[in-house]
Formats: sequence, C-alpha cells, structure tokens
Amino acid sequence: MNNDLRPIIWDDDNKQLILIDQRKLPNSLEYYTCKNYHDVAFAIKNMVVRGAPAIGVSAAYGMALAELHNSSRDYIEKAYNELKNTRPTAVNLFWALDRCIEAYNNKSSIMEEAKRIHKEDIEVCKKIGQIGEKIIDDGDTILTHCNAGALATSAYGTALSVIRFAYYNNKKINVIADETRPRLQGAKLTAFELNYEGIPVKVIPDNTAGFLMKKGMVDKIVVGADRVLRDYTVFNKIGTYSLAVLAKYHNVPFYVTAPYSTFDFKNNIEDITIEERDEKEVIYIDGVRIIPEGVSAYNYAFDATPAELITGIITEKGIIHPNNR
Ligand code: MRU
Repeated sequence: MNNDLRPIIWDDDNKQLILIDQRKLPNSLEYYTCKNYHDVAFAIKNMVVRGAPAIGVSAAYGMALAELHNSSRDYIEKAYNELKNTRPTAVNLFWALDRCIEAYNNKSSIMEEAKRIHKEDIEVCKKIGQIGEKIIDDGDTILTHCNAGALATSAYGTALSVIRFAYYNNKKINVIADETRPRLQGAKLTAFELNYEGIPVKVIPDNTAGFLMKKGMVDKIVVGADRVLRDYTVFNKIGTYSLAVLAKYHNVPFYVTAPYSTFDFKNNIEDITIEERDEKEVIYIDGVRIIPEGVSAYNYAFDATPAELITGIITEKGIIHPNNR
C-alpha cells in the first residue's frame, strides 16, 4: 500500500510551503517551493496545486506566510485579496481565507489556523472514504471524472477516498478514469495516483463514457465537487453534468463526494462564477497546436449539475440523498 502521496507539505524548519508540482505529473514527481504568499497565489492560479480542498489548504498557508513576513493589517489584507483572486469557483478557497482572517481578527495565529485546516482536511477525507465505501459493492466498476484524489486534497481525496477504502476493505473493484480534457487531470493525475497505489484503473477518452454505460460496464459514478449549493446543485469539473445526464438515462447511480468546506449555503446559482481559462489549454496539446489557426475555443473549467440527477452526496457526516432515492 502506497498511500503516502502528500501534495501539500509545510516545512516548519525553513518556513516554506512545499507542493507537488502537478503540472509535471505523471512523468516526473517534482516539488514547488513557496516562500511567500505571491508564490502560493501563482501556484494556485497556474494549477501547480489544484482541487478544491488542496486549494483551500494552500491558500491558508499563503496567509500564514504573509503573517510571518509582516503582520500589519494592510499586508494581511493584500495577501487575502491576491489569494482570493486566483480561482473563482471552488468555495474552499474563500472558506479557508475567511477562517484565516477570522483568526487574525481574534488576535490568534494564522499559522496555527492553517495547520488546523490542513489536519482537519486529512481527517475529513478519511471519514468520507470510510462512510462512502459502503456504497461500493464487491466487483464494482466505478467511473470517476477529473481528479478528486489525494492530489486534490491533503490526503486520501474525496471520490478517490471512497474508492481507496473499498479497496482497503478487500472489495474487488475496477476504476475507469475519464481523461478530462483539456487539462487531463483524469489521465495524468487520477491514473497516476491509483496506479501508484496498485488500484486497477483504465483511462478513457471523455466521449467513451456513454458507450460504456450502454454496454453495462459502469456500476457507479463517483465524482468530487468544487461547490455544493443549498439546493444541492453541484459545481464540478466541466463534463460532470454530461456524465450525470448519461447516468440518469442509463440508470447508473451517480454519487458526489464533498466535505462541508465545499458547501456554500450563502449563494445562489446565478452568483457563482464559472472559471473560464485560457483557450490555449484547448487549442494546444503538450505545446502542439491541434486546432487550425484563426479558430478559437471555449474553455469553461466547471459546470453545474442539478440535484435531481444526483443519487447521493457523500460527506464526512453521512450521505445526503437530495431526491430521497
Ligand atoms: O480544475 P481543478 O483540477 O482544480 O478541478 C478539480 C475538480 O473539479 C475536482 O473534482 C474538485 O475540486 C474536487 S477535489 C476533491
């Protein structure tokens, strides 16, 4: 068992944040060091670190680094604003930054708060796995999208924690990872971390999912979330919505995993910004242009799945059944 992938490491001796550089996986396991909050903001924006919980934990350490350098209100607010403007959709970012500001306002240490957020995330992800593995039957083939794994959190993952714990409990499972265009988190990250741990995984082009469901080759779908609203609308990686529609048509149970740090009880669907990233991510693959010159592309990073398409939302406190199914 190789459950030792830790994308976020706080180096207390040298007062720096060390991140697995996820841009380099799967071909090389390299680390990216953040010495100040600007480095952390760069890492989040450019997806050195990604995945909703991992973004939140990293941002908290960004605030802690700011506090170490200059604890004046002016400086702390600058750090907050720069970190806040990195990526708009995953609510964990704002949740973690707000916890840090609250600690600062209460005259307690941001560093201690960041360490608490980090530690809690590990516990919460473990719990999601332990609770969620119960939905997995021996012999299941589980399809997942993007990467909601250890690499997207502090450890274990959310969707992949469910898969890990089913595997630890000796259930014979197979995983199918959507490659997840355009950034290929499924092909590059999910396949890497499951393979690293010896969990059987096969990668498919995104457009293969419906065909496999039709053939009866998918027993369950388990995905992560970037934000879950009060009405259980789930924002997650682009393509999640299409999968949920396909799952409904083919009667495949569709599960979302989300810690409470991913729930947004304040905002409504129209308040949420869906990140649009540089169209170059679609136009080029590994530096090679694949779309004719003069043609542009859409690059929405997330979509919204309505509650009516969701069988269950697995949290650290239990499973929510939005439709009582
Ligand atoms: O753009 P990314 O790679 O940050 O998107 C990640 C996802 O969509 C994950 O499914 C989500 O953040 C949940 S991670 C536990």
